[in-house]
Amino acid sequence: MRYRYDLTPAEYDFVNAYLIEKGVPIDRTVTFDDMPLEDDYSEIESRASIYKIPRAFEVELAPGVKLGIPIILANMECVAGGDEMRGAAPGARAITAIQQLGGLGIPPQTLDLKMRLDMLEKISRTDCAYINNPLTIHPNQTLREAKRKMRESIRSLIVVDMESHPVGVLSHRDWKYETDDTKLVKQLMGGRKKLYTAPKNISFEEAGKILRKHRIEKLPLINKKGRLAGLLTAHGLFYKQHYPRAISDGRGRFLTVGSVGVGKENFEKHHLHQVEAQVEMGICLLLIDTARAFSINMKRALETVRKHFPDLPIMAGNTCSPRGAKFLFEHGADIVKVGIGPGNACTTRRIGIGVPSLSAVVRCAAIAKMDRSGRRKIVADGGFSSPAHIFKAIGVGADAIMSGRLFIGTYESAAEPEPIELKNHDFVEGEIAIKKYTGMASLQAQRERVKRGGQDYINEAEGRMVYVPVTCSMKDKVDSLLRRMASAMSYRGMWNIKEIQEKFQFDKPQSSAGLIEGTKKK
Ligand code: XMP
Repeated sequence: MRYRYDLTPAEYDFVNAYLIEKGVPIDRTVTFDDMPLEDDYSEIESRASIYKIPRAFEVELAPGVKLGIPIILANMECVAGGDEMRGAAPGARAITAIQQLGGLGIPPQTLDLKMRLDMLEKISRTDCAYINNPLTIHPNQTLREAKRKMRESIRSLIVVDMESHPVGVLSHRDWKYETDDTKLVKQLMGGRKKLYTAPKNISFEEAGKILRKHRIEKLPLINKKGRLAGLLTAHGLFYKQHYPRAISDGRGRFLTVGSVGVGKENFEKHHLHQVEAQVEMGICLLLIDTARAFSINMKRALETVRKHFPDLPIMAGNTCSPRGAKFLFEHGADIVKVGIGPGNACTTRRIGIGVPSLSAVVRCAAIAKMDRSGRRKIVADGGFSSPAHIFKAIGVGADAIMSGRLFIGTYESAAEPEPIELKNHDFVEGEIAIKKYTGMASLQAQRERVKRGGQDYINEAEGRMVYVPVTCSMKDKVDSLLRRMASAMSYRGMWNIKEIQEKFQFDKPQSSAGLIEGTKKK
C-alpha cells in the first residue's frame, strides 16, 4: 500500500465497478459538464406532476434527519452568517428560508459560539408549533412593558396571573392600533369572550381541532395545577399546508444543525465545549468542518465527539478522495462532505489540490455504498451552477448537495445588499443591489475573522470575493431548481430521489465542441 489509508484491492474493485455501473470514466477525472445524458423511455406524462408531489425530493440524511429537498445551504458567513451590527439575524433568516422549503442550513463554525447559539435558538423558535416557554405578561402591566418583551418575530404574549394561570392572550390585533403605551394589558385584551386552554400533553391533531373550531391562533397549555406549561400556535400547527416540504421535529420545531471546526490544539480541551453547548440546544446533526478533513486534526475531533456523543449524527468534510472518505467514515462520520476547490469563491485548485467534482463525488459515494447498512451518506459540496449539476451529483450517489453560489443572490442570504448605479449598460439602467460572495479562505473573510479575534493571522488566500446581483427570493430560486430537476427526471422516467440514485447512468463523455453546442448558443 502506498498510503496510510489506502483502499484495499477489494475496495478498489468495488469503486471501479461502481463507476462503470454509473457510466463514469475510470481512467480520468471528469466534472458535471463533461458528462451528457441521453433521454430514456418515460411513463411520466407531465413534468409538473413530479414537482407537485411533496415527497418527490425527500432524502434521509441520518436517522431523524429527513430533508424535503436534497439541498443544503453552504455554511459560509456571507450565505448563513451574522455580524456584530446585525447579530445572528441574517444567518437565521437565510437558514429559516431554506428550511421552510425543505432544505437545511448550518451556522458557519467560524462564528463565535454565542452567535451560533443565538442563531440556533432563533431557527428553532421560528414558525414552531410548540413553544416550551412562551413569553408572558401580567394584566396590570402596561403596553409599553409588553412591547419591551416582544421581539421581531413575537407579536403576542400570554397574559398570566401571579400564580402563572393563563387569563388571556394579548395578540397583535389587540395593540396594533393603540397609540397610548401607558394603557394596561387588561384594558387591551378586553373584548375577548373566553380563553381556551388544553392539557400540556394534548396531541397536535386534537389541538388542531380546537384551534379550527374556535378560530383561534394561540392555545395555551396548562399543567395539572392549571399553570401555564407551553403554547401551541395555529401558524406552526398548520405550517405543512403552506410549506409542505418544511422539515421539523415531532413538536413542529425546525431541525437545527450545529457546527464546529477542528482547531490545531487539543480538541477535547479547547473545542468540545462548543459541541456540548449546541447539543444542549437540541441539534439533530453536527458538522465538523475544515478545508483539510483528511488530517490528524479531524481524526482527533471525530474520535472525541464520538466518545462523548456516541449517537449524535456527524457530517465531516471536506475531502475529494475515496481514501479520505474511507478515513472519515472509519473514524466516526456518518455523512462525508465531498469537494475541494470546485466552488465559485474557491481558489484551492491553484495550489494543485482538488479533483473535478463528478469524479470526486462518485468515488466517495462508492465508498459509502460499500457499507450495506445505508447509513453512510455523501454531501456533494460546491461547483453547482445549474439544476443539471444537482441532478448528476445525486445520480452518481450524493444524498444531498451543498451550495452557496446558487443562493447568495437571494434576498434572504446573509450578506448585506449594496446598491450600485448602472449607467450606459446595454440592458439595465438605474440602481440594482449586489452582494459580496466571499470565499471563507479569501483575504476579505480572513481579515474579518482576525478583526473580531476568531483567527490569529492571515494565511495565503485560498478563496476569492466576487460580486453577485441580488435577483430573487430563496423560494423563487428553489422552485426554479426543483422544476427544472423535475423536468430532467421526466426525461429519464424517474419519480423521486431514490429512483435517480438507482437508475442513473451516463453514456460517454462529451467533446468540448459538444459542450459548446449545448451551452453557448450563438
Ligand atoms: P459554491 O460552488 O457554491 O461552493 O460556490 C461552496 C463551497 O465552497 C467551499 N468554499 C471554499 N473553498 N476556498 C475554497 O477553496 C474558499 O475560500 C472557500 N469558501 C467556501 C465550501 O466548501 C463551500 O460550501
